Amino acid sequence: MVQYRRVSEHTFTTIFEPFRIHSVEPLRMTTLDERRSALAGAGFNLFKIHAGDVLIDLLTDSGTGAMSRDQWAALQHGDESYAGSPSYFLFHDAVTDLFPFSHVIPTHQGRAAERILFSVIGGPGKIVPNNTHFDTTRANVEFTGAQALDLVIQEARDPSSSHPFKGNMDIAALERLLAERADDVPVVFVTVTNNSGGGQPVSLENLREVRRVADAHGKPVFLDACRFAENAWFIRTREPGQGARSVPEIVREMAGLADGMTMSAKKDPMGNIGGWLAMNDDDLARQCRDLLILTEGFPTYGGLAGRDLEALAQGLTEVVDHDYLRYRIRSTEYVGQSLLEAGIPVVQPIGGHAVYIDARALLPHVDPLEYPGQSLAVALFEAGGIRTCEIGTVMFGRQPDGSEQAASLDLVRLAIPRRTYTQSHMDYVIEVCRHVAARADALPGYRIVEEPPTLRHFTATFAPIA
Ligand SMILES: Cc1ncc(COP(=O)(O)O)c(C=O)c1O
Repeated sequence: MVQYRRVSEHTFTTIFEPFRIHSVEPLRMTTLDERRSALAGAGFNLFKIHAGDVLIDLLTDSGTGAMSRDQWAALQHGDESYAGSPSYFLFHDAVTDLFPFSHVIPTHQGRAAERILFSVIGGPGKIVPNNTHFDTTRANVEFTGAQALDLVIQEARDPSSSHPFKGNMDIAALERLLAERADDVPVVFVTVTNNSGGGQPVSLENLREVRRVADAHGKPVFLDACRFAENAWFIRTREPGQGARSVPEIVREMAGLADGMTMSAKKDPMGNIGGWLAMNDDDLARQCRDLLILTEGFPTYGGLAGRDLEALAQGLTEVVDHDYLRYRIRSTEYVGQSLLEAGIPVVQPIGGHAVYIDARALLPHVDPLEYPGQSLAVALFEAGGIRTCEIGTVMFGRQPDGSEQAASLDLVRLAIPRRTYTQSHMDYVIEVCRHVAARADALPGYRIVEEPPTLRHFTATFAPIA
């Protein structure tokens, strides 16, 4: 008998996409002149660029992921009944398998869930604490006249701090707030992972502390849970004692520490559209459903097609897969580490869905009120057709009283769509970033030419300052 030499199990380190490509979309290469004219035509606002002119689109990880073969197949099962569609029940069961709340209300995306919830529990004089409000969450809180208060730990404000759970809530600050103003606080929110704070996770220990403090004042806790699976993976890999648990188990514990959630299903649930609102409180759920019917649709579809609900139900089973999450978090980390090695300042540790370049540190000659993040984002598009997103003074600088203040950080977010780009696409991104960073001292500041009263980053126009 032939004796084969035996190999022992070996852990290879190549970043391995746990899928192969089934259908491809072409990417169009552009010239420098074409990109310059696209920028001028868009008033230097990357949201206004035609996506066909973008080579690598890192504007957002929201709704931009690739659906799987099984999600495309699930679309065919979509049942478009107006009321009581079987697709709703499938969706409901997939959601409650991970988040066992009594009421699950589909919405067309996350901000619709926010709008409905805060219309019921917000209002003038109210104050909503969160680790860091995402921009739409803040806008929906403030639209009702309430105050959106960010209470993230101090380490989160230092881009170079390597705290493993930089999304954590500052528990002492939450205690102080509730001791002083409990009557005005309708809910305590926790965003997992903390998108505006750098995609940083929240630990289970911190969630338990939030629960303890909220319980002491009889307040509900809600999760803004868009990136729950990435958060759970960080808990599994970083939090002592969690390494042997499965991601679904950790997610269920996170959900068990909350009374409800808002969700944009365009992130971890792997949808191109969708969201939901879930909660245990029957009376609150009734009020939310009443509002849902007014703007979103009947409570068993909430602005989504039956086929969307099917795709989300399938996506929820795929996102908690450990091979997928290992690849996802490692590939984001690879981009971040490569930029760091090139001397480009990035928020550390590297977050789950995105790498955040510290534009204020890279462009120290640009005053925060001249938008260093916008300047860097424009330069990355001009140089290499890479579309990114400013998360800084453009996004957060305009205050409710109309004044303007520098945001706490000026970041440029490179958000990585799920399962969409390959390793060589990421190597190209790194090369372009290095090229731009080497010329950072020549980048101009910007001024705003026109802006709307809220969420100005989506539609404002800019001009470079000579
Ligand atoms: C943390 C967080 N909350 C809420 C939202 C809003 O979700 P949507 O874009 O689906 O309205 C987002 C979207 O990026 C987000 O990242």
